[in-house]
Amino acid sequence: MRNYKIAAIPADGIGTEVIAAGVSVLESLQKRLGNVSFAIEHFDWGSDYYKKHGVMMPTDGLETLKNFDAIYFGAVGAPDVPDHITLWGLRLPICQGFDQYANVRPTKILPGIQSPLRNAGPGDLDWVIVRENSEGEYSGHGGRAHRGLPEEVGTEVAIFTRAGVSRIMRYAFKLAQSRPRKLLTVVTKSNAQRHGMVMWDEIAAEVAKEFPDVTWDKMLVDAMTVRMTLHPQSLDTIVATNLHADILSDLAGSLAGSLGVAPTANIDPQRRFPSMFEPIHGSAFDITGKGIANPIASFWTAAQMLEHLGEKEAATLLMSAIDQVCAAGIKTPDVGGKATTLEVTEAVITAIIKS
Ligand code: IPM
Ligand code: MG
Repeated sequence: MRNYKIAAIPADGIGTEVIAAGVSVLESLQKRLGNVSFAIEHFDWGSDYYKKHGVMMPTDGLETLKNFDAIYFGAVGAPDVPDHITLWGLRLPICQGFDQYANVRPTKILPGIQSPLRNAGPGDLDWVIVRENSEGEYSGHGGRAHRGLPEEVGTEVAIFTRAGVSRIMRYAFKLAQSRPRKLLTVVTKSNAQRHGMVMWDEIAAEVAKEFPDVTWDKMLVDAMTVRMTLHPQSLDTIVATNLHADILSDLAGSLAGSLGVAPTANIDPQRRFPSMFEPIHGSAFDITGKGIANPIASFWTAAQMLEHLGEKEAATLLMSAIDQVCAAGIKTPDVGGKATTLEVTEAVITAIIKS
C-alpha cells in the first residue's frame, strides 16, 4: 500500500466546496484501487483566518507544509479583503517559498462541453500551457514613492534570470517531447521588450539544441491570442512568462468552454518541496454556497497531483471518469448543465467505482 500525505487548503469561497468534492473523489479512488491511500489533513487558512489572526496562514505555515507529499488548494479571494493581501499572504508564498517554478495548465475541450469557437470540438484544442511561476512580472520587485503627490511613482519590475528562464524552457521542451506531437511554441513580447524578452528568445534557441526531436516556434503574445482563437489545432505545448501565461490561460480556459474545468499544477520539478494543485477559477463569491460550483477543475488537478506522485493508473482512471460524466451531460450551469456540485461528484465517484 502506497500512502500519501496530502495537505488540503480549501481557503475561500467555492474553494471549500470543490475541495470537499475532490477529497471524496480521492477517497473513492482509494477504495477502488486498494493499493494506494491518502492521509488528508485540512488547514483552515485563508481570508477568514486572516480576519481572526491578521495573517492568511501561521508564520510557520511553510514548515508545516514541508511534511506533506502534495498540497491540494482551493482558491483565495474575499470581497472584503484586498486581493493583493490574500494572494501575497497565502498562495504566492507557497509557490515562491517552495520554488514551484513550473505552473502547468492543460486545456482541452472535454466531451459534451461546448467551445465558444464555432467549429471546434474535442481534439481540436489540446494544449498544455507552461507558465513560469517564480519570477518575471510576479517577482514582487518595485515600490512606490511620493505617495499621493502629483509626482508619485510606482514601479513593477519584471525580473528574468538566465537560471529561471533556462529551467522553465527545459521543463517545457521536455514536456513537449513527452507529448505525441512534440510541438512547442515559445511566447514573448520581444519586439517591444528588448531586454529580458530577447534573452528568453536566445535561451529558447539554446535549449532547443538539447531537444532536436521537438519542433518549436516563437510567437509574440498579442499575435498568440489570434492564433489560439483562429487556429487552435496548430498549437500543442506553450511556454510563456508568468503574466503572459496568466492571461493566455484564461483565454485557453474560456475557449475550451469554461474556466470551471481548468486545472493547474504548481510544480517543483526537483521535488525538494511538495507541489501544489488547484483549480484555476477563483473563489467565485457570486455562486458561493449555492452548491453549483463546477468541481471538474478540482478533479482534473487531483489527476495532475496523482500523476506527479507517480500514480498513473489512478490519474487515468479519474480522467476517464471525468470524460464519461461530461459526455453524459451531467454538468453544472457554467457549462450549460443543470447538475449540482454534488450530482457531478457522485456521478464521477460512480464511474470510478464501476470502472
Ligand atoms: C491564476 C490567477 C492568479 C494569478 C490570481 C488570483 C492572482 O489569475 O492562477 O491564474 O494571476 O496567478
Ligand atoms: Mg489567472
